[in-house]
Amino acid sequence: MGYQAIIFDLDGVLCHTDEYHYQAWKAMADGLGVYFDPEINNRLRGVSRMDSLEIILEQYNGPELNQAEKLALAEKKNELYRQSLAQMTPDDLSGEVKRTLDALRGRGLRLAIGSSSKNTPFILERLGLGGFFDAVSDGNNITRSKPDPEVFLKAAEFLGLPSGDCLVVEDAVSGAQAAHAGGFRAACVGDAAKAGAGDYNLDRISELLDVV
Ligand code: BG6
Ligand code: MG
Repeated sequence: MGYQAIIFDLDGVLCHTDEYHYQAWKAMADGLGVYFDPEINNRLRGVSRMDSLEIILEQYNGPELNQAEKLALAEKKNELYRQSLAQMTPDDLSGEVKRTLDALRGRGLRLAIGSSSKNTPFILERLGLGGFFDAVSDGNNITRSKPDPEVFLKAAEFLGLPSGDCLVVEDAVSGAQAAHAGGFRAACVGDAAKAGAGDYNLDRISELLDVV
């Protein structure tokens, strides 16, 4: 209550790119003969690309991979992922998300992004949201990914607001932990809401309008 701003995670909150992440990692894992399923995928939510790869490789039993080989695997996954992103259009932004963003802004709230993804600018552009947010903090301006609070603290700094004035919206347990570590309250949807990780655990993103 009394929030001045909302900081949104991107993948799995504003758009369904979490599914594209899953498909691209699955293709990479299948190529390596590594077991990968939706449950393991939930552990990748909010986690950086290289940390995600390490989680997937917990199931790998082949010859040891050096850093260059790991970077090549992550690059291969990112190429597949970006092929999916390139197909996205503003129609991939759901009516509910759009109405919710517009209604929050209509109430005078400032809106920001707090995402671990280095692909954030590309995704926002594909969705027709380039320039929509008051601040964007993403994988390109952080050194530590969630559950470290850096990405949200940077978003609050870009907005010029203290954490207590900002509500974070997340689908990742690691993201809710990051919010709490930074002194933010968290509203969760999806996997994180199921886990009860938020201060508010929502069935739908439009329920944010009842929270703020
Ligand atoms: C987060 C996703 O938003 O971004 C993670 O939840 C992903 O699953 C991370 O690994 C990094 O994304 P990218 O686009 O930089 O590979
Ligand atoms: Mg997410």
